[in-house]
Amino acid sequence: MVSFIVFGASGHLAHQKTFPALFNLFAKNYVERQSFYVIGYARSKLSEPDFRNSLKDYIKPEQEQAKVYDEFINRVTYFTGQYDQEDSFKEFSKYLGNLEKNTDQAKGLRVFYLALPPSAYVSVGNFIHDHVYLPNGKTRMIIEKPFGKDYDSSIQLKKDLHKKWNEDEIYRIDHYLAKDMIINLPTLRFANPHSLDALLNNQHIKSVNISMWESGGCDGRVGYYDINGVVRDVLQNHMAQVFTVAAMDEPKSGSPDDVRYEKVKVLKATSHATLKDTLLGQYVAGNGKGGYKDLEGVPKESKATTYVATTLFVDNERWKGVPFVFDSGKSLEQGRVEIRYYLKGKESGIFSDTDQDHYISFSVQPNQEVVLTAFANKPMSSARTCVNAALNLNFKEQFAEEMKQKRDAYEILFEDAIKGDPTKFVRDDEVEYAWRIFDEILDSPNEPLPYAAGSTGPKEAEEYLKSHLKLIQ
Ligand code: NDP
Ligand code: BG6
Repeated sequence: MVSFIVFGASGHLAHQKTFPALFNLFAKNYVERQSFYVIGYARSKLSEPDFRNSLKDYIKPEQEQAKVYDEFINRVTYFTGQYDQEDSFKEFSKYLGNLEKNTDQAKGLRVFYLALPPSAYVSVGNFIHDHVYLPNGKTRMIIEKPFGKDYDSSIQLKKDLHKKWNEDEIYRIDHYLAKDMIINLPTLRFANPHSLDALLNNQHIKSVNISMWESGGCDGRVGYYDINGVVRDVLQNHMAQVFTVAAMDEPKSGSPDDVRYEKVKVLKATSHATLKDTLLGQYVAGNGKGGYKDLEGVPKESKATTYVATTLFVDNERWKGVPFVFDSGKSLEQGRVEIRYYLKGKESGIFSDTDQDHYISFSVQPNQEVVLTAFANKPMSSARTCVNAALNLNFKEQFAEEMKQKRDAYEILFEDAIKGDPTKFVRDDEVEYAWRIFDEILDSPNEPLPYAAGSTGPKEAEEYLKSHLKLIQ
């Protein structure tokens, strides 16, 4: 028996991501259908049919999945309850017990997913533990970022949750860890120690660029974004997670703790971002698009940052001296996420005069591909021509069949949480160290640099990236 309980079931995230992912797990038989229960919990007074109907616009079954959709939706139930009142949880305990009454609870699992404002985590977590924790079976709680708003508050949140919950029962989501290329990166690196990973160290790499560009702006999320800004929204979590996977050493084993131990080692060895060496920007109207301050609800004096470029160093044998340069922004020219390791040029020998910013890149989105740029001699030429060429591993071409599945990150993460594999979830110490790295640049007193919507970022960014990445061109 698996009961998957979604708190905040009436909200955006639950509708857009959670229930569609649960449907996919169900339809693709990743869970045993007959003993899978999906329960929405929220304060909104909704009837069960109304709640089921509200999911219709978000779950998009293929034509041949019509029957399985009906089967799924009929298993979805809805409970109206409060987040801060014990009586609601006592009632809910009876409700759940009744739903699961014909199952063997000792072999059962309850997964509580909190699609709620973080302010509700501690109260809901405590009441779950007191009233709906499965004493004989297993219980897990999944929570969404942000895990605090800075280093101190993240420590407080951890302490509060740990009063009742063991760390191995808490699954902190960072959906970037379930993106195909990020799942693949350890394999691409450590299963190929004599090729790909052999290049990834300070002997061969002069700099690393981790980019997360988004073409969309902050529409519809002003309340959240104006308080948080780009550093809290994506740099401290998604980009920091991508960075740890890009920089870590090979774990002793594939066990969740060995993997996360290596990631934490990177964070511990990483320098702290400084305001002096960081660019922060905010988009203004341009290229036919509105600016951040044109959005309804944004205060005219808002200093919210929608662009960041910053540089970190990892003080270990592999990476000493190599700058890791991060750049990310909303409303940029294009949406793309990539890790690009720039290769050192040749200092002597017959090709030392031919220098280029060659790189090995791992593209996370929109395409999933690994590219190694290199020099080649122009074919059919007797002279030494030395032109740029590229070796390319494109997932869509090489894994065409598998890529047709289009599994969403949430689907993969829920599957792991049900299986009890926390590898792709964020451990408490990872959260802590990541906050510490970015603490100084969370709230800058300075005016953000303006950049036109639809552009490549503030004009200062070009020189910043070129000099910090040690680029030739
Ligand atoms: P919503 O604002 O839609 O909130 C979800 C539900 O929580 C609401 O339907 C409401 O349900 C309840 N709720 C809203 N405000 C409060 C409040 N002040 N106190 C208690 N309950 C409240 O948020 P999202 O669904 O967009 O996101 C949920 C959480 O997930 C966010 O807080 C954020 O931390 C995280 N997140 C969201 C992402 C997204 O893409 N949306 C991305 C990453 C993280 P009801 O009133 O019916 O109980
Ligand atoms: C979310 C951020 O966590 O990640 C958003 O809050 C951002 O601002 C989103 O747009 C990016 O996720 P993805 O999967 O669309 O790249």
